This record gives sequence, C-alpha cells and structure tokens, in this order.
Amino acid sequence: MNDHEHYDLIVIGGGPIGLSTAWQAARRGDTKVLVLEQYGFLNERTGTSGSERHWRLQYTQRDIFALTLETLPLWHELERLAGRRLIHAVGSLWFGDVEVETNEGHIAETARAMDEMSVPYEWLTARDIENRYGFTNLPRHYEGFLQRDGGSIDVRGTLAALFQLSQEHGALLRANEPVLEVAPDTGGVTVRTARTTYRADKVVLANGGHVNDITRSWGVSLDVSLFEMALVSYRQRADAERPFWFAFQQPTEEDTNLFYGFPPNPWASDNEVRLGPDFEVNPLRHASEATGIPDPRHVERVTDWVTAHMPWADPEPVQTSTCLAVLPADPSRQFYLGTAAGLVDGGENVVVSTAGWGFKFVPLWGEICADLALKGATRHDIGRHALAQGVPAGSAA
Ligand code: BEZ
Repeated sequence: MNDHEHYDLIVIGGGPIGLSTAWQAARRGDTKVLVLEQYGFLNERTGTSGSERHWRLQYTQRDIFALTLETLPLWHELERLAGRRLIHAVGSLWFGDVEVETNEGHIAETARAMDEMSVPYEWLTARDIENRYGFTNLPRHYEGFLQRDGGSIDVRGTLAALFQLSQEHGALLRANEPVLEVAPDTGGVTVRTARTTYRADKVVLANGGHVNDITRSWGVSLDVSLFEMALVSYRQRADAERPFWFAFQQPTEEDTNLFYGFPPNPWASDNEVRLGPDFEVNPLRHASEATGIPDPRHVERVTDWVTAHMPWADPEPVQTSTCLAVLPADPSRQFYLGTAAGLVDGGENVVVSTAGWGFKFVPLWGEICADLALKGATRHDIGRHALAQGVPAGSAA
C-alpha cells in the first residue's frame, strides 16, 4: 500500500457539501485533503442546479431547528471570508392549510417550535397574504407566517467561495476522476479511481445521489428516493418586495400539491420569479436517469398555480429546468449524515453525507463531516440522520 498517494482525508464529491468539508478539514491545519469529483467542479448537475436555494431558520423538528441556528454563524463567517453576501434575507413565507402534514414540515407545529426557540415571526391570514403580497383566490382558511430572517441563498456565490477557500487552505481538487471503489479496513481506506489508487486515513462520501454506487460493493444500499423536480421561471409584471414562499396544501390524487417560489434574486438583474412543484412522484431508479427536462404535466401544474394565484406574474414560462431531489425514503430522517460504523468493516473510517434539502446546512455539514472524520465525534445532534436505525451517527463530543 505504501506506493499509493496517501491523504489524511479524501472527500468524494466536489459539490457544496464536499467542498465545505474540504474547507473545514483543510483549515484545521496539517491535514492533507484531496477532493475527487467525477465531473468538473462548479457543475450544475443534481441538487445544485439553479441559482438559489431556500434559507430558513424554522423547522418543525426541534433538533433540526437547533441545527439551523448552529449553521447561521457559519454562514456569516463564510460570507465574511468570501467578501460577499450569500444569504439574502428576503423572508420566508409559509402559508396554506396549517394542519397539513408534509415532508417539509407542518405550519401550526412549526409556529409552536418558533415560540419555543424564541424565533420571531408574524402570523398572517389569507387576506393579509393577499393584501401584502398580491396573491389572489387563496382559500379563506389558509393562514401562515412570515419569518423575516429566511430567504434565498446564492448558490453559485457559495460554491465559488468554497472552491476558493478549500484550495487556499491547501486542499487538492481533482476533476474528472470518477471513483470506482471505496474499500475501508481497520487501518484506513483504499480509494480506487479511473486513474489510480489512493490510500487515506478517512473518507467522506459527499456524492449525493450516487452514494449507493459506492456503498453497493459493501452489500449496503441507503434507502434514498430520487425525484427529478421541475423548476419554472416566469416574468414579473409588477415589482414589489416579496419573500420566498411555500404553499402547504392537501395532496391531490395526482401529486403532493405543494408549490414554492423565489422572488427575483437580489444579486441578479433579471425580473424573474422561479417556482417549483415539490412533487415526490415518479422516482428515478438512478441519478443517471435525470434528463434536465421537466415533466410537462408538472410545468402545467405550476403554471395553473401561477394563473390562479399570482396575477403579478406572466403565466408564460420563460425557462424550464430540473433539480434532482435526493431524499431519505423515510421522511422523518430528513438527511443521512454519520459514519458507516456497523455497516461495513472499517466503516468508522468513512463518513457519509447525502440526501435531504441540505443546501441551507452546507457550512455546518462540512464542519460535522470534518469533525467525524478528523476527531471521530461532533458536538452537534445528528442522531436522527444516522445511516441506519441502530447505527450511531457518530459519537457526541
Ligand atoms: C426547504 O426549505 O427545505 C425546501 C424549500 C423548497 C423546496 C423543498 C424544500
């Protein structure tokens, strides 16, 4: 094994979580870090497609809510180091049927969680939401809240910052090098790629929807569901300050009936709003099946929503694309984050971060992956996200 290039840490996947992990590990000093990316860096495949993601403090689940509060100072640090704003607090508006149970949360219970966590919000009726933001024809029983610290995350700005910072701290980034095998043992991990074989003390798997391509050789498959979700842009007819919004509605026979939208991005010059249906339907068997072309029926469903409720937007789609949602099949898990101890011999030397709407946690997930890999423990509560029931996510520091 001695003739193989050796690293303290190899990160597999050079997307946001992988680059964040590399940054957080390399900045600790004296840590030789390699990132292997199968495509080019800053690519827009899978979950990172598009220019913005939702930032929110509020979660229905108190343990995950605590994690957003722990992430915020890390975002501020990243913004300071990057010299630019990455979170734009345009506000986060949740409205609809306040008792509907969804995988994104539950409005009424989340309001109780905000009360407990002393996070301020404003409660709004359907009429308030219509008067203030120009939505129309909302069912009269719809209500919700505005949480003003939420908003939009600048995806490309975040990736550029992490790409630069990880290299400034000495991490080596290799593009176009697909990993063929990750073989842990009690002394470390052997990583075989299309180019060569490496040896590392620890490996972090941050390769999103491709996670099972690696774990399969251990006889393990994480129970993830892959959905290619539509993204549709529309031109605004009338300017006004509007927040990110998420409409919580009872499911139809056809789909989950959930829609969300971003206002025009404060860092961009266009006047477009971007909407998505949060439909967990028609799962893909593998990430490679994603086409980048949205299901026309889903575009139609979003456009119908715009026509019914958003007179301030021209209901003619300007642009369509997709994002690949990689979600734990059991929605109560929300994310997979932890070591592979107990799943494979030497699994304590492999940390996995995949699945879930995780962009808002990018700086924290990087810190946690670096903690688990370099210290074997983290102070953050990630028990819910362990890779398998009964398998510890990692020990608490
Ligand atoms: C989220 O905040 O986690 C989220 C926002 C839009 C779509 C799906 C998830």
